[in-house]
Amino acid sequence: MTSTADAAAPGDVAPSATWWRQALVYQIYPRSFADSGGDGLGDLPGITSRVGYLAELGVDAVWLSPFYPSALADGGYDVDDYRDVDPRLGTLDDFDRLVCALHAAGIRLVVDIVPNHTSNRHEWFREALAAGPGTPARERYIFRDGSGPDGATPPSDWVSLFGGPAWERVPDGQWYLHHFAVEQPDLNWANAQVRADFLDTLRFWSDRGVDGFRVDVAHMLTKDLSEPLPSQTELDAMPVDGLHPTRDRDDVHEVYAEWRTLLNSYDTPRAAVAEAWVDPGRVSRYAHPTSLGQAFNFDLLLADFDAAQFRQVITDSLALAARSGSSSTWVLSNHDVVRHATRYGLPAPGRLPDGLPADRHGRQWLLSGGPESALDRTGGLRRARAATLLMLALPGSAYLYQGEELGLHEVADITPEQRQDPTFVRSAGVDVGRDGCRVPLPWDAEAPGYGFGAPREQVHLPQPEWFAEHAVSAQEGDPESTLNLYRAALRLRRRLQTDEELEWVETGRDDVLHFTRPGGWHVVTNFGTDPYPLGEGRVVVASAPLEGTAVAGESTVWLTGLNRSPGPAR
Ligand code: NOJ
Repeated sequence: MTSTADAAAPGDVAPSATWWRQALVYQIYPRSFADSGGDGLGDLPGITSRVGYLAELGVDAVWLSPFYPSALADGGYDVDDYRDVDPRLGTLDDFDRLVCALHAAGIRLVVDIVPNHTSNRHEWFREALAAGPGTPARERYIFRDGSGPDGATPPSDWVSLFGGPAWERVPDGQWYLHHFAVEQPDLNWANAQVRADFLDTLRFWSDRGVDGFRVDVAHMLTKDLSEPLPSQTELDAMPVDGLHPTRDRDDVHEVYAEWRTLLNSYDTPRAAVAEAWVDPGRVSRYAHPTSLGQAFNFDLLLADFDAAQFRQVITDSLALAARSGSSSTWVLSNHDVVRHATRYGLPAPGRLPDGLPADRHGRQWLLSGGPESALDRTGGLRRARAATLLMLALPGSAYLYQGEELGLHEVADITPEQRQDPTFVRSAGVDVGRDGCRVPLPWDAEAPGYGFGAPREQVHLPQPEWFAEHAVSAQEGDPESTLNLYRAALRLRRRLQTDEELEWVETGRDDVLHFTRPGGWHVVTNFGTDPYPLGEGRVVVASAPLEGTAVAGESTVWLTGLNRSPGPAR
């Protein structure tokens, strides 16, 4: 099937079935990017008004986090209607205008799709509540009777990923399952209507010119809820080997095989990337060409600023991508984690027995009120710039999160009343939540609300005063600014991304990584503090000025024409 919209695809994006393999994808959290309506909430026309900025930055594609009608119980990941635009963010016509503007600028568009759960305001859920137990309307979700007197005990003791019980009781006494917020009832993917309806949704957006989909919680759709349900402890102890009752089941790929057939039926096949928090050894199932085709790899995001960890992650990720025939993805920040400038500015975390950092995303720091004394802002940003420049040189696609190109830190100073993220409330304050990376962007240091579009007191999350120095207007004219570093690197990256190959060069130092890419590119990152002497070459971009001919501590350089190996021994 080829859609009419596809045949008449607006704009200048050249047809390519594999554009996503090495794309630079820029994630926009629509409610916090740019506000054209002046109500304090970002919107689609706001994004359209900034397409010039995105083009100048040099992104290949934009990924839009959910912009669908939603009560915002989970930042828009509680979707009321999968085929419409939240009226506070615009209309479908605004969406079409955005697609046209992006395509005209040569930028593709990826939209978020949230198939594990709807919102509790979705018409299906309202129908299910009205129809009562045992009806087909309830079959689209996961309803169960409780146990004990009057069925008042939930069907199991499962805990939601946002904290608190995973089952919620409805007035007629039944319980429904929600792995996330109570307002996000899990869908039943064994139900034929659910499956058919999501194919219609994928078709709806593909016909409107969308180039790809980011699939939320891709690993949790299908479930085996045969009775008796295991306890949470039993569930946690079960192997995640494709048959786990709730996670990463092999049969989820039957769903994605159907999606893939639909997505491939377009003249330019639509891309899809899985958000799948699964064992690295199982990621390739999602990235396989018969499934979604690409999967997020969060390992870099979980690593410390450490040469050995980075090298291990890069080596393993490239090997895994090769196994599925997909390309690797690289992420350092997104709307769910503490910004990487801040993570790298906090004291090195202790390690858990599984090797993961104890304070995975700087959450402990946030929880303790985000004390300024514990944060090395300058050092964090310096390391973030170095890590980003390394990431941008890797084969595969890189995902940036809005504001990281401005060197933004996490905003810690948000009062409990101002917090919106359900994890804060559901975890009874144990987890502060993700609002600090979702604060509306500073565009203009001098304008009200830093040019976001509304006066500061109306902006939906509070912008701190230090945002002024990070504003786009404050960085444009400064050749050393983080914004101009990103712009330069993204421009060069288009020339660097040819064959998806990388070769390590031994450096003789544990804290320095050096690799080459086809075409004579060299990339050197000094994770330590002692300068690292270079051979002769032309430095094309650097995250910090060189010290003579040496790579400064905690910095990355890209070079061409290196005619002898760099290294400390000469
Ligand atoms: C993953 C999304 O990235 C996150 O923001 C959301 O809360 C959960 N999925 C639930 O949809």
